[in-house]
Amino acid sequence: MKFLLTLSVTLLLIAGFQDYSTAEPAPVPVRETFAIKTKSLTITLQVGTDGRLYQQPISAGPSGSKPARDDEFYPQAGDGYVWEPALQVTHADGNTSTALVFDSLTQSNETADITATRIRLHDPAYPFDVTLCFNTHHDEDVVEQWIELNHAEKGAVTLQRVESSSLLLGGDVYLTHFFGDWAKEMLSPITEKITPGTKVLDSKLGVRASQFRNPSFILSLGGAANETNAVVLAGSLAWSGSFQCEFDNYGQGVRALTGINPFESAISLPAGKIFVTPTMLWVWSTNGLGDMSRKFHRWAREFGLRDGHTPRQVLLNNWEATGFDFDFKRIVSLYDPAKKIGTELFLLDDGWFGNKYPRVDDHAGLGDWQPNRQRLPDGLAPLASEAVKRGLRFGIWMEPEMVNPRSELFDAHPDWAIRQPKRELELQRNQLVLDLTRPAVQKFEWNVIQNILSVPNITYAKWDCNRYLTQPGSPYLAPSRQSELWVDYVNALYALMDKTAKAFPNTELMLCSGGGGRADYGALKYFHEFWPSDNTDPTLRVPMQWDYSYFFPVMALASHVTHWGNRPMHFACAVAMSARFGMDLDLTKLSAQDKAICAGAINAYKQIRDVTQLGELYRLEDPHENFRGALNFVSPDRHRAVVFAFQLKDGANRPAFPQGLDPDQHYTVHELNPAPSRETIPQEGKTFTGEELMREGVMPSCSKAVEASVVELTE
Ligand code: DGJ
Repeated sequence: MKFLLTLSVTLLLIAGFQDYSTAEPAPVPVRETFAIKTKSLTITLQVGTDGRLYQQPISAGPSGSKPARDDEFYPQAGDGYVWEPALQVTHADGNTSTALVFDSLTQSNETADITATRIRLHDPAYPFDVTLCFNTHHDEDVVEQWIELNHAEKGAVTLQRVESSSLLLGGDVYLTHFFGDWAKEMLSPITEKITPGTKVLDSKLGVRASQFRNPSFILSLGGAANETNAVVLAGSLAWSGSFQCEFDNYGQGVRALTGINPFESAISLPAGKIFVTPTMLWVWSTNGLGDMSRKFHRWAREFGLRDGHTPRQVLLNNWEATGFDFDFKRIVSLYDPAKKIGTELFLLDDGWFGNKYPRVDDHAGLGDWQPNRQRLPDGLAPLASEAVKRGLRFGIWMEPEMVNPRSELFDAHPDWAIRQPKRELELQRNQLVLDLTRPAVQKFEWNVIQNILSVPNITYAKWDCNRYLTQPGSPYLAPSRQSELWVDYVNALYALMDKTAKAFPNTELMLCSGGGGRADYGALKYFHEFWPSDNTDPTLRVPMQWDYSYFFPVMALASHVTHWGNRPMHFACAVAMSARFGMDLDLTKLSAQDKAICAGAINAYKQIRDVTQLGELYRLEDPHENFRGALNFVSPDRHRAVVFAFQLKDGANRPAFPQGLDPDQHYTVHELNPAPSRETIPQEGKTFTGEELMREGVMPSCSKAVEASVVELTE
């Protein structure tokens, strides 16, 4: 009897339990199917008979499952959805749920390569519209996605979370992301399988996207990624503020949610105003990371940065040479050696301004952008004209968003700084961030930029940002709108950068943020390049530049020769000339041999920069895994190529196998700027077909740690 009772209770429990565990969402019948397409990527979307918009998960193999509630393309919080939502809003009446149905689809060809798609959704219970916007670049397999949202409710709607993108992926999904810190940016790639649960990559720094991680990542479908043979999707959020990339494995698939970090960032949206999210960039390849990057670079040169078809000049920066310790005479004394060695542009860094509180170190002066009268009695103009007289362009450093408490600006406007009430001011590098949500600050910063860049003969500027937010409070915004600071700041910053790019179209701009804090496509579109890291030790720059190159073309990576790490000059030059070549050295203190090496490298860079910066990059040997790193670039017409080998540890010499050459074309091999004491490479001066070189390889001259070899292949 007791046994029977136990058995029936057990059966009941099992039956009850099974009822729950098998409660998978029922498939939704499909009413209409359409797609967002590039050359080799298809995102299939389906409208269900319930009116909702669904997505077929993207996977390495075929996918054709019937859509269910979990597979919404842009899921909304509340009303039955239980996973991480793409959209979470509180309507004017306090309702925290949204239920969007498909309204309309428009697609138009903007150019032969670009299609614009707009998908309108609305909530039938509210006058609330969401438009999913896409620009697809057919040949490059690039999808730009963003969201536009507006409403006509009786009162403001609170936006708690509005993702830029919410893509559904099927099968095994691997994520590669890049961990780092100051002076270690992008140095530590991590690849992991996305297991059930939620993996979050984010930042809460407010005025920059990264310090600890970049808003860029790689997803690999069906297996871990490799350079030539994997199904990969690069993602990069074009946003220079706090971001969140969330990978939610909900059992049936992985949802990649990317956008502004919702952390304390609620926005009150009045009726009639349109909220636009940052753009999410997706780049697809079924041929591995190399093909993915080449597509990304082609897109970037066209749309992601300024003047992407103009190779960059050689720059000499005084920061590592003089620090804050200079005056007019000292700077001018650097020009002749700079010209003699072949550099084309001189950049005067921090320390040229401030009078009551002179900027002689990093404790004072930020905010007071008048040239220091003792150091530069006649201002910046004579410094610039002396450079131009000697055939050098002249550039200047600025940090318009910041203020030192020891400055005339702070004395006059202590309430212009971002700070929180009742909290002691927390300084980073002795400075505070100006509150760009305040119109008076916007005007002030614009005046500063205009005044500096209008000095005759200034044709280059480095825009720095040496701290992030730790006390996010705006004395300008009302107490109820404090959470809007994060987004309003970045949008005001972009307005300023946009004005600058438009008002000074011939001024080249470098984006810098205490190292690589602003390595993102949100700001980069107003700039020509960014500063990847303050760490210029070439042994670390090799893996760092390798990692950045997944997402950014090398013309965007400022790479300077310095004394960091005390590496041999030949090695340091080879590493720097593989990206945007610059120097941060006191040339007057170099030995004759090092000077000759630098001059040779500059000369070689001028010869190959059109190949490295406008051509295609092939990553050959991963410096994270090997005793050396190797790359090659091929010119768009495939008539020329350059192979770089950077030896990080001792190891037997072996050929590097270039890729992307024309197999039938003949190339002559020539080592550029060979290191003084090494033997001539065996292939020097000889001619081979592209097929032979790709099969037999190119033997570089390096065989020991901190040696490098740069080999040119010409038709
Ligand atoms: C930080 C930058 O990364 C450096 O290159 C230099 O410009 C300093 N700021 C100047 O303060």
